[in-house]
Amino acid sequence: MKILVTGGTGYIGSHTVVELLNKGHHVVIIDNLSNSQAFVVERIEEITGRKPEFHRFDLTDKAVTDAFFAAHHDLDGVIHFAAFKAVGESMTDPLMYYRNNLDSLINILQGMKDNGIKNLVFSSSCTVYGQPDKLPVKETSPVKEAWSPYGNTKQMSEQMIKFAVQAYGLKCIALRYFNPIGAHDSALIGELPLGEPNNLVPYITQTGIGIRKSLQVFGSDYNTPDGTAIRDYIHVVDLAKAHVVAVDRMISEVGKGDFEIFNLGTGNGYSVLEVIKSFEKVSGLKLNYRIVARRPGDIEKVWADTSYANKELKWKAEKSLDEMMRTAWNWEKALSEKK
Ligand code: UFG
Repeated sequence: MKILVTGGTGYIGSHTVVELLNKGHHVVIIDNLSNSQAFVVERIEEITGRKPEFHRFDLTDKAVTDAFFAAHHDLDGVIHFAAFKAVGESMTDPLMYYRNNLDSLINILQGMKDNGIKNLVFSSSCTVYGQPDKLPVKETSPVKEAWSPYGNTKQMSEQMIKFAVQAYGLKCIALRYFNPIGAHDSALIGELPLGEPNNLVPYITQTGIGIRKSLQVFGSDYNTPDGTAIRDYIHVVDLAKAHVVAVDRMISEVGKGDFEIFNLGTGNGYSVLEVIKSFEKVSGLKLNYRIVARRPGDIEKVWADTSYANKELKWKAEKSLDEMMRTAWNWEKALSEKK
């Protein structure tokens, strides 16, 4: 099958391209490299022995996107990752987030509609649930008012797709990710944060390697066993594999309806201190960290009910927290050797 992966040089995108190529699919990447680097395409080739087709342009440019789709009307499916994703940045520049994340989606849906391309896998987030009333979170749990413009773009995107699916006869699987971490076993691809990381695991590994002096643990007064916030961390390769399953599900038409939603997590919640302990175990280092105030906008705890995804997709996240931290650490070490 010929699959378009937007944001295919990014963190989750690159791991998904590897899994698609490993399964024998033909992959076309679109990325504007706004938060990724061109060498990732070579790394993908090094891992898989196959070179994805790569187009560098901005999906908010309608004319260029229209021309791309007209020239690629033989695509069997689209996996759409390309988006801005920093929660804090979205609070300070909401219009940039709405413009980028929504304009690009509109252009992609238009291109699909105009060229008879039916199948879309959409990169969504557990952020659409906010702080859920009941844990674990099911797909049927209510979507709460967004805590950030970033989260709001994910909610609005899901709604936009739902109506586009109805009106134009498209199909979509929206995958709501919990917290993806870790890197490819080869240590050739992984997360490449620009500047100071916002997310926990790159901050931990950068502190471990000495780029950052100390990690700040945001809050120790949450209503959790050790007082630090809990998330459902999932290995990025497990997550990537779910996208291949989702594409196959749409193309082989075994889904339940034209717009499906799945939670992608492990079903286990770990606290910030547990993640730090796992890092210390796999790296053999003592991490320099200190407890500070809560980060504004953070929720207390969230983890997934994965039973629906496990049953329907016949997919299950397999890698442990230690495995996530081990691969994240190997990637950080490989990056420091490259410099
Ligand atoms: N944390 C720290 N110190 C840091 C960074 C994070 O203690 O330096 C804590 C946070 O307070 C939180 C946990 O580590 O409790 C995880 O934080 P991340 O920033 O890694 O992840 P978030 O859960 O805040 O956000 C992630 C994605 C978002 C997505 C969201 C959905 O980055 O894109 O999950 O819940 F929307």
